[in-house]
Amino acid sequence: MKHFINLKNIPAKDLRKIIIDAKKRKNLRKKLSTLEVDKGAPLKGKLLIQMFEKSSLRTRLSFYLAIKQLGGGTLTLRSNELHLGQGGESIADTAKILSTYGDGFMLRTDSDKKVENFAKYLSIPVINGLSPSSHPTQVLSDVFTVEEITKKPISKLNICWIGDSNNVLDSLIAASVKFSFKLSIGCPKKFEPGKEVRAWVKKNNKKIYIYNDAKKAVSGADVIFSDKVISLNDKVNKTKKIQAFKNFKINKELMKFSNSAIFLHCLPRGDEVSEDVFLGKKSHVWQQALNRVHVQKSILLYCFGKLR
Ligand code: CP
Ligand code: NVA
Repeated sequence: MKHFINLKNIPAKDLRKIIIDAKKRKNLRKKLSTLEVDKGAPLKGKLLIQMFEKSSLRTRLSFYLAIKQLGGGTLTLRSNELHLGQGGESIADTAKILSTYGDGFMLRTDSDKKVENFAKYLSIPVINGLSPSSHPTQVLSDVFTVEEITKKPISKLNICWIGDSNNVLDSLIAASVKFSFKLSIGCPKKFEPGKEVRAWVKKNNKKIYIYNDAKKAVSGADVIFSDKVISLNDKVNKTKKIQAFKNFKINKELMKFSNSAIFLHCLPRGDEVSEDVFLGKKSHVWQQALNRVHVQKSILLYCFGKLR
């Protein structure tokens, strides 16, 4: 069994294996409908327990479909209905019960420490479904989407992020090291990636390129990613932060400075992207969202020790 917590700690060859498996599985089920099970039902009889301490649409649905298509099932818990959420039970005891009843645990939380603590006490795999420092299932799926659309290995592409230094960017930075792609980041000085992630990149003998000018950041980009300026539970002065990003809006004008880039966004969106770019020909956001199902199936197989 393996946990899936942060791309930084997962060997590059395992990440590549997951992507290869997802591609095969996606192709093999082209003619199957949503709830039909993959041949061989590799996770038959397995229960994935999901718990969300923050809102979610895509992660919730995509994990539901992922485990169903592998022959298993899922149960979603609301943290405020558990003793744990009320402060009436420890993580250790909760983890013991989850491990007794279920086969895997997917957690979305506001605390990285909580994911780590669950990993310590669970005897089943834990998957990070978004934490303050990481959104690993999203970004691995995004690597898959980039390669699917461009038909090129991501290492041959110039990837650009315009936006806040948040959990999705931290995972994209980790992916840039694991998959060896060039990553340019465009954001205001005050919202540049933190020291810790930059030190990690350096320690791995890699580089990321940071610009406080959106046009410079997108110059030569093949792919432009973005995300909301204000993340879930972001405790900042929202008006001030949005104002700081006013020159980082992705619109048709900015897209012209890229290498005819495609546009991707994890969703939900805010005002960081114009309607015509978001709904335009270069945007692949719906395909990106659906690919979460395919990649998470292979992540589940990896965690359950069943990846071929
Ligand atoms: N992209 C993403 O994780 O969406 P949800 O917050 O809706 O799960
Ligand atoms: N950065 C966003 C991602 C949402 C999927 C957030 O944490 O709210």
